[in-house]
Amino acid sequence: MKKLILSALVLASLSVQTLAQSPPSQTAQNQPSQIPHLEKRDNRFSLIVDGKPFLVLGGQINNSSAWPATLPAAWSAAVAMHANTVEAPVYWEQMEPTKGAFDFSAVDLLVHQAREHHLRLVLLWFGTWKNGQNHYVPEWIKSDPKTHPREETVYGKLLDVMSPNSPANLDADKTAFAALMRHVKSIDSTDHTVILVQVENESGSVGSIRDFSPAAEKAFAGEVPAEFARALHLEPGNWVKTFGPDADESFAAYSTAHYINEVAAAGKAEYPLPMYCNVWFAYPVHALENRDRPSAGQEYPSGGPQQANISIWKAAAPAIDLLAPDFYSDDFSLFRQIVATYSRTDNPLFFPESRFDATFGRYIFYALGNGAIGFAPFGIDRAQQPEVPNPQGVLASASPTPINPAENLALLNPIEQQIAQLNLEGKLYTAVEEKGEARQSIHMPTADAVASFGFPQPDGSYPPGTPTLQGRALVAQLNPLEFLVTGFNVSISFTVPAAELQRQPNQQLEILRAEEGQYIDGVWQATRILNGDQTDRGLNFRGERPPLVRILLHTLPLYDEAVHRNPR
Ligand code: DGJ
Repeated sequence: MKKLILSALVLASLSVQTLAQSPPSQTAQNQPSQIPHLEKRDNRFSLIVDGKPFLVLGGQINNSSAWPATLPAAWSAAVAMHANTVEAPVYWEQMEPTKGAFDFSAVDLLVHQAREHHLRLVLLWFGTWKNGQNHYVPEWIKSDPKTHPREETVYGKLLDVMSPNSPANLDADKTAFAALMRHVKSIDSTDHTVILVQVENESGSVGSIRDFSPAAEKAFAGEVPAEFARALHLEPGNWVKTFGPDADESFAAYSTAHYINEVAAAGKAEYPLPMYCNVWFAYPVHALENRDRPSAGQEYPSGGPQQANISIWKAAAPAIDLLAPDFYSDDFSLFRQIVATYSRTDNPLFFPESRFDATFGRYIFYALGNGAIGFAPFGIDRAQQPEVPNPQGVLASASPTPINPAENLALLNPIEQQIAQLNLEGKLYTAVEEKGEARQSIHMPTADAVASFGFPQPDGSYPPGTPTLQGRALVAQLNPLEFLVTGFNVSISFTVPAAELQRQPNQQLEILRAEEGQYIDGVWQATRILNGDQTDRGLNFRGERPPLVRILLHTLPLYDEAVHRNPR
């Protein structure tokens, strides 16, 4: 009997469908082996890998982990957290130990082992800059400041930052980075294990607002380069006249962006993968009056792609496809600001680094609802890290993988392609619990989804929320009244949008069918129909392994017009 019911269900009603979506572009379909690239559609973005939208569910390994002895732990950590991508450094000092003699063994190992673990790679080029300093440049550069000049402070102190105004420095980095990209092409142009490249790491200068070396002084005394001024719609003039009180920092931003643009362009000439720069952005400071602004070169590396420098970077570094903030705060309102600042029509949103803790869940859900192409916490192989504060003041600990990142990626990884596609089409929405806001509405063109956070939810009561604000919801519109729904600590129901009700009050939404299931090779496979207690008070998502639900609604009149006009 049981068997009969099941087969009848499978045949008659359980849908096996591909995701409702417009077909991938012709080019994407016909060229599955095309190089990973970014696609822009109606001001939304997707990273396309092997012809399909790809969502980077990443994890960044610790700075000193891309070595044979430490990589095994890194791969295990990535697999344990259900990541699909590992972000790993390539060290200039290791790759070019003597000038012109390249050793790609570390890159080969990364690519080879990533493939063994079915993971994609983002390569992080630790070149001229690493956290606003020069610590990864090879010894032959460090030890020869005459040929490879350092950045100097206003009083002539030599910093552990390379001068961005030195052609010799630029030439050395360009040559090395071009060699790296040439090598990546030679080993990976078919497999596409490497999908993105970060050019430098948190560039800018720690220790001075700008470079005051002789070459820098000469450039600063001259005119703002004409093409750059034009791109910013500025009148030609010198730096002080053009940028006023921001002249020093703007000069630093221009010289850094221009240098990195040249490095990226040289790499792209060999193998044009999408390239980005990560950002140590300017965190707000909480200090005395008049000291409430962070200072360039002190609280953050001056001249990097910080919030105030985005336009300068966009004008001076067109070879950089995106500027990507590293986010290390637990202040959710700051996160919202940073999302708003870096998600622009000329900048896909991507978080290459974040805290690896319980903040992860709300951040990744919020970022996805705002079009992010990827997200990665930092230091996933945390056992490798000593218990010291990092530059952003976060204590790295040797504790095991926190459950929260893993539970998110366990849910999202099997549907990453669907999410990336739906985001590109503008059909993905999320809601994240906030203090005092345990109920939120997601407004979509044809329906509102109401997310109520925390359990229990007795009839007539406001939802209780969760003690640590862990409620989060994801709703994707597959068809006008069909939605893919999931989340954590949330109940989700659907109503006619308020504005639509005002226009036409005589309507209500009703569930036709709610299926729990999963996507297998892009095809929806229902495992059961939900009804009764599982749908009567919204779709409920509790626990660490929430289901995926596909719900089909229809519109029904709220009342009988005839009876309404002539009451019985
Ligand atoms: C940001 C940097 O980009 C990373 O390489 C690392 O240093 C982290 N800070 C935290 O330690």
